[in-house]
Amino acid sequence: MITMRNITKTYHMGENVVHALRGLDLDVKEGEFLAIMGPSGSGKSTLMNILGCLDTPDSGTYLLGGEDVSQLTDDDQARIRGRRVGFVFQQFNLLPRTPALKQVALPLMYAGLSREERLKRAREALERVGLGDRADHRPDELSGGQQQRVAIARALVNEPNIILADEPTGALDTHTGEEILNLFEKLNRQGITVIVITHDPDVGARAGRTVWIRDGLVVDHGHDAHRGPASHSQAAVKNGHTATVAPAAATGGTPS
Ligand SMILES: Nc1ncnc2c1ncn2[C@@H]1O[C@H](COP(=O)(O)OP(=O)(O)OP(=O)(O)O)[C@@H](O)[C@H]1O
Ligand SMILES: [Mg+2]
Repeated sequence: MITMRNITKTYHMGENVVHALRGLDLDVKEGEFLAIMGPSGSGKSTLMNILGCLDTPDSGTYLLGGEDVSQLTDDDQARIRGRRVGFVFQQFNLLPRTPALKQVALPLMYAGLSREERLKRAREALERVGLGDRADHRPDELSGGQQQRVAIARALVNEPNIILADEPTGALDTHTGEEILNLFEKLNRQGITVIVITHDPDVGARAGRTVWIRDGLVVDHGHDAHRGPASHSQAAVKNGHTATVAPAAATGGTPS
């Protein structure tokens, strides 16, 4: 469903040049639950913005569902996002003072639906995340976990086939974070491809596969998020093979 080849992204800040992505390759199959991990500043959010067609790479190829989305106009990006992708962020990004139902209905504004139909779909999305009884609550009348579930309902309302989440449990306590992960697992079982950026090995461990990013490159496709990247060598990366899993003792990780 996702094929990225040799993706680069550079930011220019006055005299400074930041190579956020330096020739990254990534493949994601339809229906996967993928975790993306790596140090701060390694390029994870930059990658997510490109994955979600919020931004375009400087060079490289990105195929999304067979369509080349490497260099789209803003309008075409918006069209793809509306059709395929739902976003979830660490800080929920909800509008203050706006009731949950209205909040979730907003992305449907440009879908050419009647107000009645928009509200009906928003109500269904809220029910899907277990918040059918909170439709009239504003964000300040909801717990953190409930706010994140409203954000997930908003991401779901366009019926995307991919959910992209950047540190979705980062602002939540462990228990509430677990509930959000359970919800992602449920959505994944319903066929949605879920890609979660996280610093938390416990989140990574729930995903079917973990991809490690370092200095703008994928350094490892592993399965054990607690282990850490097995290999930092670019050879393992560039030919796209799963790196050999090193014994936990050798890498200082915890055995699973
Ligand atoms: N809009 C921007 N303008 C300039 N530099 C940027 C911009 N966005 C990101 N960068 C730089 O690109 C690099 C990668 O940033 P990115 O946000 O992708 O990292 P990250 O892996 O998401 O980090 P974190 O875990 O802290 O969220 C960093 O060095 C960052 O300072
Ligand atoms: Mg980030």
